[in-house]
Amino acid sequence: MRTPRFSDVAEPSSECAVTKFLIHTPTSRREVPYFRPSIGEEEINAACETMRSGWLTAGPRAKEFEDDFGAFVKAPYTIAVASCTAALQLALEAMGVGPGVDVLVPTMTFASAVAVVVHLGARPVFVDCDPATLNMDVADLERRITPKSKVVVPMHFAGQPCALHEIRAIAEHHGLRVIEDAAHALAATYHTEPIGSISEVSCFSFYANKGMTTGEGGMIAATDEDLARRMRFMAYNGINRDCLTAAGVKRWWKYEVVAPGYKANMTDIQAAIGIQQLKKARRFRDERQHCADLYRALFDMVPSVRAPVVLQGLTHAWHMHVIQLELDQLRIGRDEFSLRLEEMGAGHNVHYLPLHMHSYYRDTFGCRAEDFPVAMSAYDRILSLPIYPGLADADIEYVVECIAAVADQYRR
Ligand SMILES: Cc1ncc(COP(=O)(O)O)c(C=O)c1O
Repeated sequence: MRTPRFSDVAEPSSECAVTKFLIHTPTSRREVPYFRPSIGEEEINAACETMRSGWLTAGPRAKEFEDDFGAFVKAPYTIAVASCTAALQLALEAMGVGPGVDVLVPTMTFASAVAVVVHLGARPVFVDCDPATLNMDVADLERRITPKSKVVVPMHFAGQPCALHEIRAIAEHHGLRVIEDAAHALAATYHTEPIGSISEVSCFSFYANKGMTTGEGGMIAATDEDLARRMRFMAYNGINRDCLTAAGVKRWWKYEVVAPGYKANMTDIQAAIGIQQLKKARRFRDERQHCADLYRALFDMVPSVRAPVVLQGLTHAWHMHVIQLELDQLRIGRDEFSLRLEEMGAGHNVHYLPLHMHSYYRDTFGCRAEDFPVAMSAYDRILSLPIYPGLADADIEYVVECIAAVADQYRR
């Protein structure tokens, strides 16, 4: 259990062409959106063909997408679902999470990943983050385990795999099961193993701004057959089709409701888009890597800004590019910094406002801001910058120029 050291930090994976960089004066004004999806004619044609095919909802294309995705992440079982949120809920349900159970979750994550714990009647137990990577802090995880803890849901923040070996060791020691929230981590690897192939269940998101998209959508990748069977029928009304008629034969209309399931299946229209997007997923990741390399080279020349820490031995998916401002060197805080960037047309966002700070969790579970000091301190300093396929180098240079100009203007 250790925090990353400087020697762990990986070098950029490719050379960046940084020829000219103006720190004090941004070049002429640009509008750089925080995100733009990459949808080609292939996806449009595939969606149209599906609509003409006469089969719209889960069918042959969903099956094909599941098979392709399983091959991509090297997972034996895959289930295409309506969202990553649905995937997480199905995984928790299949592991028997319900009233009286505690689930360990990061506070530095998206709301829906924890709401599903509450929907199942269980209690979320928040875990603080590592100051360098913003992933779940493994020492804090171990401290927060309660006698009722049954499952831990690590999330790969921004697309950088979290410390899965350590988390697995803690989980085994304390009898916890692991569900990976891999919403950010498509095409990421953990010491050569693809995310999706490691834990019993990993949940991916195909929301519009993810590593690939189906508009909305998600995928469960599982290594455990029994869990996969349960999640598959719970994703479709709790219907089990592996049953026989009274005459002892299989008929397409014969099914048995074995549990009050959810309606969480993916449609064939989404799957048709997904099949095409998946073919581009590695290129998309590589383009995001290029953006990250360029940011890194440019931020080397900008004081008061900490570029993301990247650990060695991992493939980062670069779903997000989160910098941290050195507030002790600045006369303004992140919020005012954000306003200045907005005025300059430099798109950005903040991920995340830690969940334990939200009124619902504060009032319902008695969470206190000071119980998660690392997340609180990080929240004050973080800014997510544009990173996506097709983002021009000139746009990245402009965003960094704007950040450098604001930092310069408000330096202590
Ligand atoms: C970390 C994390 N988990 C889960 C989700 C939920 O994904 P979806 O929108 O596919 O339900 C998101 C969505 O942004 C996310 O960022």
